[in-house]
Amino acid sequence: MITLQNINKIFQTKDGVVNAVNGVDLNIEKGEIFGIIGYSGAGKSTLIRMLNMLERPTEGSVNINGNQLTKLNGRKLREARQNIGMIFQHFNLLWSRTVRENISFPLEISGFEKEEREQRVSELIQLVGLEGRGDSYPAQLSGGQKQRVGIARALANKPDILLCDEATSALDPKTTDSILSLLVDINQKLGLTIVLITHEMHVIRKICHRVAVMEDGRIVEQGPVLEVFKTPKQRITKEFVKQVTEPEETDETIQHLVNGSDTNTVVKLTFVGGSTERPLITELIRSFNVSVNILQGKISQTRDGAYGTLFIQFEGDPGELERAIQFITEQDVEVEVINNANKSIS
Ligand SMILES: Nc1ncnc2c1ncn2[C@@H]1O[C@H](COP(=O)(O)OP(=O)(O)OP(=O)(O)O)[C@@H](O)[C@H]1O
Ligand SMILES: [Mg+2]
Repeated sequence: MITLQNINKIFQTKDGVVNAVNGVDLNIEKGEIFGIIGYSGAGKSTLIRMLNMLERPTEGSVNINGNQLTKLNGRKLREARQNIGMIFQHFNLLWSRTVRENISFPLEISGFEKEEREQRVSELIQLVGLEGRGDSYPAQLSGGQKQRVGIARALANKPDILLCDEATSALDPKTTDSILSLLVDINQKLGLTIVLITHEMHVIRKICHRVAVMEDGRIVEQGPVLEVFKTPKQRITKEFVKQVTEPEETDETIQHLVNGSDTNTVVKLTFVGGSTERPLITELIRSFNVSVNILQGKISQTRDGAYGTLFIQFEGDPGELERAIQFITEQDVEVEVINNANKSIS
């Protein structure tokens, strides 16, 4: 549905040449939620803005639904753009217009009659959960509500694609979740293809099917989210994955746990999709004569299963501990014994 081939973007600035995007190839499927993650300055915004020609590539082609956007101009380009909605970190609403008038704006530009516009605006207000707020001005709304207006406006012309440039970065975690749920909802209801960029791995793990990691204008790694979580290859990918799967200061805390625990066995469990931690722990306590103490952990739920680490402390006789550990390994969970009280450790 979206194919980028060898995309380059070079900016000429007073300080010299900036190669913001450098040789990017990308394929995004219809109906997919595709995430692009990277640190500030990686070229994410520049890349996403080339999907609707807000920015023209210096080199390469952007193909959407078989249409070479890079070759279009004028009316043809405007028509193609109507099929691509976009939302922004700071909403970009018209402050002197009400919610209804903001959502109606793209419909006016497309030349819809008043009656049709009003009908469509009412549908959109309902879709994004802004019933009763249609006559408010943006300044009277919370951040989450403003982004709902942004989403409704972006969907006004019934696009196939929605581009999101850090759409939740100005929102608190709870509001972020509600906006992410809305995006999943419209992805499923409308079959909308969503391309989002973010610097937060939480956003990726919560709603994306696939992710691409961007660094210095290049895509350095990509794949299904759980796959990338399980086997991150690049250093930068490992850093992002750590944000959601490992407790902070792991090395230090493990050392502390090991030192303080000479009578117990400490194990690190790594969940790699499928299994979740709670049923496993319950099962351990129920089926084996061991006591289990959860020390710390960070388990993240992706769309395709759980991923993360959990440190637990075991107490029980050696044979029973061994059987319990054997049982865990049979559950698709990696086990690493960090401190075994029953064998002397050096
Ligand atoms: N219009 C422009 N003129 C000159 N340089 C630009 C322009 N837009 C972006 N750049 C440069 O291109 C590089 C990539 O910028 P871009 O905004 O795409 O990064 P980003 O990944 O979106 O960062 P952030 O997370 O901070 O939004 C940066 O070095 C930036 O300074
Ligand atoms: Mg940006």
